Amino acid sequence: MNTLSMRPRAVELDDVQGLLRFGYKRHTEACFLLLKVEDADAARAFLSQVSVADAQFSDSPPVTVLQVALSSAGMTALGVPGQVVAGFAEEFVAGMATDEDRSRRLGDQGNSHPSHWEWGSGVGVPDVLLMLYAMPGHLDVWRAELEAQLDGGFSLLAVLDSTDSGGREPFGFRDGLSQPELDWERRRPVEDRDRLHYDNLSCLGEFLLGYPNEYGLYTDRPLLEPDRDPNGLLLRAEDWPERADLGRNGSYLVLRQLHQDIGGFWGWLLGRADGDRDLALRWAESMVGRSVDGKPLVHAEACGNDFTYDEDPQGQVCPIGAHIRRANPRNGDYPPGTRGLLTRLRRFLGFDAQARPLDLIASTRFHRLLRRGRSYGEPQSLDGMLAGEAPQTPAGLHFVCLAANIGRQFEFVQNAWINGTRFAGLPGEADPLLGDRQPGSDGTPSDCFSLPRPDGPAERLCALPRFVEVKGGAYFFLPGIRALRYLAGSSTR
Ligand code: HEM
Repeated sequence: MNTLSMRPRAVELDDVQGLLRFGYKRHTEACFLLLKVEDADAARAFLSQVSVADAQFSDSPPVTVLQVALSSAGMTALGVPGQVVAGFAEEFVAGMATDEDRSRRLGDQGNSHPSHWEWGSGVGVPDVLLMLYAMPGHLDVWRAELEAQLDGGFSLLAVLDSTDSGGREPFGFRDGLSQPELDWERRRPVEDRDRLHYDNLSCLGEFLLGYPNEYGLYTDRPLLEPDRDPNGLLLRAEDWPERADLGRNGSYLVLRQLHQDIGGFWGWLLGRADGDRDLALRWAESMVGRSVDGKPLVHAEACGNDFTYDEDPQGQVCPIGAHIRRANPRNGDYPPGTRGLLTRLRRFLGFDAQARPLDLIASTRFHRLLRRGRSYGEPQSLDGMLAGEAPQTPAGLHFVCLAANIGRQFEFVQNAWINGTRFAGLPGEADPLLGDRQPGSDGTPSDCFSLPRPDGPAERLCALPRFVEVKGGAYFFLPGIRALRYLAGSSTR
């Protein structure tokens, strides 16, 4: 079917779960319940009627917001036929922790190996994820009411509490600042064309199934024969109007519990800096790529998100290996300076040696992530952390990201850019915050971090310890609300 000639259909915002559109920042209280299905009938009854917030804008947002996601194990436990489950993405069906090769690619090794996880591997794979968001003072009572309704249908595998850290992650940096802008109005033409410049607007299909993505194509998802949806509960597919689109308005949701060693992070930097707090802070900010207050190191005056690295190709202002530069290199399909056909050809053939490192990180627009994480643990003051204080209780990030393609988006970023020892041709490095510090498959070390200088060789920090460990994780599907009712309903059996 020619996707290019179709007129865009309006997005059914009343069918999209709100998390895709809103970060619920005013809902400062949040917790995630990881559930196992104990009684499929009772679980289905709960999921068929529970109130789920949608993506329609309202001047007075609800005081409490519930979002619901299912793992592939959860779909099976609810009785969804195997043939239907198999129509979802391979990564989702397999799960995050079932395959050694995937664990290696994600950097889940050593203490972060799934065999050490608190949940998410073996019998600890959750079936259902309930995400609870509440305005201040409204979480506890509501959560207790909700938990009472789960009785009989589900058991509680784990509760992931969060803290209101005022928009900062536990190392002390402002977080959740840079997000892709989703094309809710569908104004970007559906076409597969080179984009030479970085642009923050993403085709809806990068995050919502059932819509064209940045390639101008529809991502694979379960498209059901009409007899599988006799009551017409599901919306019909744009690209195949006879089929019921179980994916429409849904997204994959990646959840990882990332423990942060706050004492280890600041203690190591201070030790390396011989107690010089300003130097330790400068190194930490270079590792992130933003100041603790969230200003990008390049274009600090831009403050927010409107910047690229075009004017800092060597990473002398923001190191190329900084966390935000790895996680989103902010380039177009070709790196800066690739205008004319001849230049592009020279680069394509690898004749432009200077540009080669940049070529290795090209095409950011196919690897964007919509982040929705929440931090946990007692928030610490930056002064306290720089004075060597460490929290008494565990702290970290319940990392959440949404994407239409787990492999091309989350797994690629985690593997090639965050853990990649060849990212941008940097020698012996991986992400300075998140790297697993394991040598690459060819023995290349990965525990260094370079800060290039205009006036001499790069400053290099080596033998970085691991600051972040994985404590649990799973892949979920955050369905459209009709699809949720369908999956919970009898029409699938
Ligand atoms: C404990 C773990 C992590 C910490 C402490 C952390 C911290 C941060 C901070 C401070 C920022 C800058 C503020 C912002 O733009 O929101 C940031 C940005 C970002 N992080 Fe992380 N992060 C963590 C894990 C991850 C993981 C696992 C991924 C992806 C697999 C990731 C992807 C990103 C992306 C895509 C950005 C935005 C980059 C940009 O567009 O400029 N982060 N992170």
